[in-house]
Amino acid sequence: RRSAPSCARRALAAMAPRGAALLVPLLVAAAAAEASLSGYFGTKSRYEEVNPHLHYYCFPPPSSSEEDIEVNDPLLRFFEHCEKFVALVEENATAMHQVEAFKEGPEMRRVLERVAGALCLPADELNADLVQVAFLTCSYELAIKNVTSPWCSLFSEEDAKVLEYLNDLKQYWKRGYGYDINSRSSCSLFQDIFRQLDKAMEESKSSKPISSPVIVQIGHAETLQPLLALMGFFKDEEPLRANNYARQAQRKFRSGRIVPYAANLVFVLYHCDHAKTSREEYQLQMLLNEQLLPFQHSNRTLALYADLKDYYRDILQNCRFEEECELPRSNSTAADEL
Ligand SMILES: *[C@@H]1O[C@H](CO)[C@@H](O)[C@H](O)[C@H]1NC(C)=O
Ligand SMILES: *[C@@H]1O[C@H](CO)[C@@H](O)[C@H](O)[C@H]1NC(C)=O
Ligand SMILES: *[C@@H]1O[C@H](CO)[C@@H](O)[C@H](O)[C@H]1NC(C)=O
Ligand SMILES: *[C@@H]1O[C@H](CO)[C@@H](O)[C@H](O)[C@H]1NC(C)=O
Repeated sequence: RRSAPSCARRALAAMAPRGAALLVPLLVAAAAAEASLSGYFGTKSRYEEVNPHLHYYCFPPPSSSEEDIEVNDPLLRFFEHCEKFVALVEENATAMHQVEAFKEGPEMRRVLERVAGALCLPADELNADLVQVAFLTCSYELAIKNVTSPWCSLFSEEDAKVLEYLNDLKQYWKRGYGYDINSRSSCSLFQDIFRQLDKAMEESKSSKPISSPVIVQIGHAETLQPLLALMGFFKDEEPLRANNYARQAQRKFRSGRIVPYAANLVFVLYHCDHAKTSREEYQLQMLLNEQLLPFQHSNRTLALYADLKDYYRDILQNCRFEEECELPRSNSTAADEL
């Protein structure tokens, strides 16, 4: 989530009990296997925020020092470097029209009326943006400090669901399935992950030491959501729209669960000693927010690495950031503009 740096820092501290069970043993095991930890950080500021906690997680403390830390904005903040995304989505006043329509729709109007009633204000003195600020204030304090702020008493559970949908709509159209470019812009990150996995597999096959047993890349929810969409996770049959709130009650696309505070996605590559065939020798698991994530192609939580690469072959081979992100050169002539 975009949030004040101190919020992110506290959220990561709060993740310690949440993440410890699954992530720490993995990192410790890798560290014991002679790991040097490679760090890639989306931004310098995010590195400074997260670094103390990274050391907490990666204990025994990684040997890597600041010099090993690489800031790679194009890789982890790809959305800012993708011209087409910036023009079509980020800076396009009409790209979020579903979000704007929902703000003016009947569900939001009822929330505004209820909140105005609780505050003894005329409803026309409130708008969706103000109500959203109050709701975020409530949710920040709950999520980060585990205290129920007085702001929360303004909202019923139904109000919270409507405001959750408003936020999901925004994530859907800006970072998720709403526009193809949202997810296509992450394909260099996707390919980079598989390149690193391939490299580890090749080193393992030739009995070499694994040069980077653990790679940590730290970015934002805005980094993770497009990547998950590129891989096809949490896709509903029907798009999220301003007018289908009720039909989307059971939707998969819930950004509060997909990218909560301190969201994290882990790829774990296994070498299986007792594989029957060479294809079964390398297998992979994914964890999203410390939970095993069932794969799209099988619904199982363990996949043959080769099967996964087959499933994503098209993205691995044919998605090119430069081409995806290139703005169509318009041929507008004087005649077109008349
Ligand atoms: C802005 O978004 C709308 C809705 O998706 C689209 O029709 C339009 O072409 C976009 N404009 C630009 C300049 O990309
Ligand atoms: C949050 O607060 C509630 C009640 O105040 C308590 O039962 C719960 O254990 C707390 N959760 C955490 C993670 O501290
Ligand atoms: C995975 O499970 C869902 C829900 O049970 C089902 O609709 C889908 O077809 C399954 N996909 C595969 C590839 O088995
Ligand atoms: C732009 O012009 C080129 C060459 O005249 C043409 O091949 C192409 O189809 C045109 N593109 C559009 C979007 O009109």
